[in-house]
Amino acid sequence: MPVLLAQLSDTHVVADGTDEVLYVDNNARAAIAVAAIGQEAPSVAAVLATGDLTQWGTDAEYDKLAEVLAPLNVPILPIPGNHDTRAGLRRCFPDHPWPAAQQEGDHLSWVVELDGVRIIGLDTTVPGAPGAAFDPDREAWLRAALSISHAGPTLLAMHHPPFVTGIEWMDASGFVGLDRFLAVIAEAPVDRILCGHMHRPMSSMVAGVSAEVGISTAVHVALELAPEGPVQIIRDPIGYRIFRVDGSAIVGHTRYVDTGEAPFAPAWADIN
Ligand SMILES: [Fe+2]
Ligand SMILES: [Fe+2]
Repeated sequence: MPVLLAQLSDTHVVADGTDEVLYVDNNARAAIAVAAIGQEAPSVAAVLATGDLTQWGTDAEYDKLAEVLAPLNVPILPIPGNHDTRAGLRRCFPDHPWPAAQQEGDHLSWVVELDGVRIIGLDTTVPGAPGAAFDPDREAWLRAALSISHAGPTLLAMHHPPFVTGIEWMDASGFVGLDRFLAVIAEAPVDRILCGHMHRPMSSMVAGVSAEVGISTAVHVALELAPEGPVQIIRDPIGYRIFRVDGSAIVGHTRYVDTGEAPFAPAWADIN
């Protein structure tokens, strides 16, 4: 039986009553996506949440995030984004198999096996900074995680994509240790890399592995590939990804929500 996994990303949930200008209603849009995930049939086995789940990582925002996600009745697998805090995520998701409490600053990476699918959550964040890091500690951790043999597919989730996207103002925050990361992936049994952070869907290949950025429910980054192009955002359609994992066959779908559209049968539906 295929395993279905949803990927929710960059919800940027805010506290009630915020006066921050967000250009869209982050909380309402996250709630719409959550409701749609709950209506998926067949149902998804888990929801992978690829970071920036809150806007600023405050306690009030994590309380609101818990409220927004509460309708989900499947495991939520969260990874930190640069807008999250590690302490906030631990508090918001107390049942998640986080690493044992470590020294302040240690990365919040984990491994979960779900219906034969191994999912690795790699914390690429640098507290207080927007960019990514893959340092020797994380290299050792990832090599150890991947050294454990696993008969089924392995998905690697990380907030920051391990490739240059061409949207320069977003790329500018950087990925320290990218070559170190790619060297691990080149030798590792990883079937798909799933990311967030970029606020628009993208795909690439890194060290022979397909790497994809999910779709955000908050405002999107505008597609601007000109060198030194302007910082621009856009209210593109929102939604989430669904990955259908059937052994090593992994297909990524996109579910748009809040479009005002619904499926219907065309006149030629009986052509088969
Ligand atoms: Fe984000
Ligand atoms: Fe981010």
